[in-house]
Amino acid sequence: MLTSSYVAVSLLGVVSKPVAAMFYYPNPAVSNLEHILVDSWGAYASNFSSAITPCDNYVTEVGLPAINSHRTTSAQWMRVAFHDFATADLAAGTGGIDASIGFETARAENKGSAFNDSFTFWQPFVNEFVPMADLLAIGTVMSVHLCGGKYIPYSPGRIDATIADPKTGVPEPSTSLEETLAQFEQAGFNQADAIALTACGHAIGSVHAGGFPEVVEQSAITPNNTNGAVNFDETRAVFDQAIVHEYVDWTGQKGGALVTSYNETSRSDLRLYESDGNKTMLQLYESGDGFQDTCVELLQRMINTVPSNVQLQPAITPALIKPINVTWDVTAEQQLVLSGKIRMLYADEIRNEPVSVTFSNSYTESLVAEEGLGTSAFKLSDAQTNAATQYFLFSIPSSSVAGATSFTVAAEGFEAQVFEIQDAAFIVPSLSYADVAKGTVSITLAARNDEPDFDPSQLSVEIATPVLQPLTLAPKIVRAAVQVAEVDSPFHDIGYWSGSTAIEPPTGAVSVTLLSSGKVVDTLLLDASVAGW
Ligand code: HEM
Ligand SMILES: *[C@@H]1O[C@H](CO)[C@@H](O)[C@H](O)[C@H]1NC(C)=O
Ligand SMILES: *[C@@H]1O[C@H](CO)[C@@H](O)[C@H](O)[C@H]1NC(C)=O
Ligand SMILES: *[C@@H]1O[C@H](CO)[C@@H](O)[C@H](O)[C@H]1NC(C)=O
Ligand SMILES: *[C@@H]1O[C@H](CO)[C@@H](O)[C@H](O)[C@H]1NC(C)=O
Ligand SMILES: *[C@@H]1O[C@H](CO)[C@@H](O)[C@H](O)[C@H]1NC(C)=O
Ligand SMILES: *[C@@H]1O[C@H](CO)[C@@H](O)[C@H](O)[C@H]1NC(C)=O
Repeated sequence: MLTSSYVAVSLLGVVSKPVAAMFYYPNPAVSNLEHILVDSWGAYASNFSSAITPCDNYVTEVGLPAINSHRTTSAQWMRVAFHDFATADLAAGTGGIDASIGFETARAENKGSAFNDSFTFWQPFVNEFVPMADLLAIGTVMSVHLCGGKYIPYSPGRIDATIADPKTGVPEPSTSLEETLAQFEQAGFNQADAIALTACGHAIGSVHAGGFPEVVEQSAITPNNTNGAVNFDETRAVFDQAIVHEYVDWTGQKGGALVTSYNETSRSDLRLYESDGNKTMLQLYESGDGFQDTCVELLQRMINTVPSNVQLQPAITPALIKPINVTWDVTAEQQLVLSGKIRMLYADEIRNEPVSVTFSNSYTESLVAEEGLGTSAFKLSDAQTNAATQYFLFSIPSSSVAGATSFTVAAEGFEAQVFEIQDAAFIVPSLSYADVAKGTVSITLAARNDEPDFDPSQLSVEIATPVLQPLTLAPKIVRAAVQVAEVDSPFHDIGYWSGSTAIEPPTGAVSVTLLSSGKVVDTLLLDASVAGW
């Protein structure tokens, strides 16, 4: 369960030094990842959860082939995280969740379609601020929570590997018990942890004969089960305790194909579960709801296992009040306007009360809600129902908010929150775009040329483009500076500078960063017409 207290403070705590960039509160990484966590369905939903809604969905195919595939995207996501994690060497400080798995799909220990299926879906979400490794981790958080488990606190900040992990060692069905336990131990998980983590992982999904003929007989492949899936338990797409119950009670799927395989060598789950005389499995059996808490603890440890040079950020909490797409822009009528939306997150009932924004120059507006509502996979604190979102649009001419350095959002039942803005210099969204066909990015920035303590000549623009790289479906980020030159502007007190630069075809949003004397003053993600967010 998420806690709703002190959202602003803990979110702002994520940035090490305050960044005046607009558009993404509190910073682009947290704003984007919070969007995935919170905006599950309905208005402005993140497309991320669509892949696992419903939980037995297989996103890689559509219609009947998807249904008959008996593949499960939510389960694949968790398996991908396990395999990326499993080569971690805690003592050496290497491996863990770094998306290196993308380079390692040819290894026998990483057989199966899960890896490239998942990376294909995640690829358009990757950009300068959102590495594949953070998506890999959030995939497990979303699968578990959306499919019946509890919420695993989610910390961003992972870094994508640029090469395969030289270490191998993901346990396979044929791996001996000793070897398997040694592999888990190296990654920081003792015997009891290894048993429970595997039971948690195998709470959803299947073993497929197509891919694992040494585990499941080929007779499992039928016209309506085209990969010969044998489910771990009777509730393939529900993250519940059934796996433990069916194993201990010897009912249903009896723990799945890695327990019951026709091929004794491939009964790796049976060897592991029995290795302490079934003690851990019996404890999980008796712990009731405690099973879910154990899974939260172990899966959190798994996704937070990162190379020793990586510093994870504090866990993201849902923003009760979230400014979205807040930016200055210039309209077709050459008017300078500050526009954006406020997303309000309600624990239970939508209040339908107006929301007010008050600027530091005391200009205030009462905002009216848009019609569409959104629903979150999450419940806030001890609410009975899932949290809901409502959006409030504002669009205010600069004359009304001249000199304002912040705005305060207030609404009945919410603690008012203050958000900083600046208008010394900004990227002009309507004049900045990625032209994928031409392979260029064109940027126009606007800057005040009448402020004594602000020098537009100190401005610089950098872009970062996610592009394909060989051997993995995880994009790499290519950075470039954009040279800008002054061009005509419709204003007397604001100048325009424009420039463009060549880019490789982007796989996701191209980010533009405006710096003043090296300090970030604005950030804009250009969607480059790529699906995803
Ligand atoms: C001894 C350790 C383990 C072994 C030998 C093992 C082996 C396997 C095998 C052979 C499959 C079938 C894959 C397929 O047919 O597509 C599988 C599926 C799966 N594994 Fe494991 N696994 C182990 C531990 C774990 C752990 C610790 C997790 C996560 C925490 C995990 C998560 C999953 C999931 C979610 C699936 C279902 C994938 C799907 O339905 O596509 N496994 N595992
Ligand atoms: C049983 O599994 C082992 C390894 O998992 C494999 O080498 C062997 O060929 C399998 N036997 C059969 C009959 O498939
Ligand atoms: C799948 O097909 C088999 C025959 O190949 C049939 O007996 C079974 O009822 C079908 N199952 C489902 C769920 O449609
Ligand atoms: C462990 O539990 C399984 C499944 O209930 C059972 O088949 C097996 O005999 C048990 N093993 C031990 C050592 O108790
Ligand atoms: C924010 O802007 C993006 C890109 O233009 C758009 O896709 C998205 O719907 C906007 N969000 C809201 C809440 O309006
Ligand atoms: C996964 O994709 C990568 C990058 O396109 C490719 O090199 C690799 O062969 C693919 N792996 C599998 C198992 O298809
Ligand atoms: C959203 O994801 C679905 C798959 O879940 C995909 O078919 C669709 O094209 C995506 N839409 C956008 C706008 O990205």
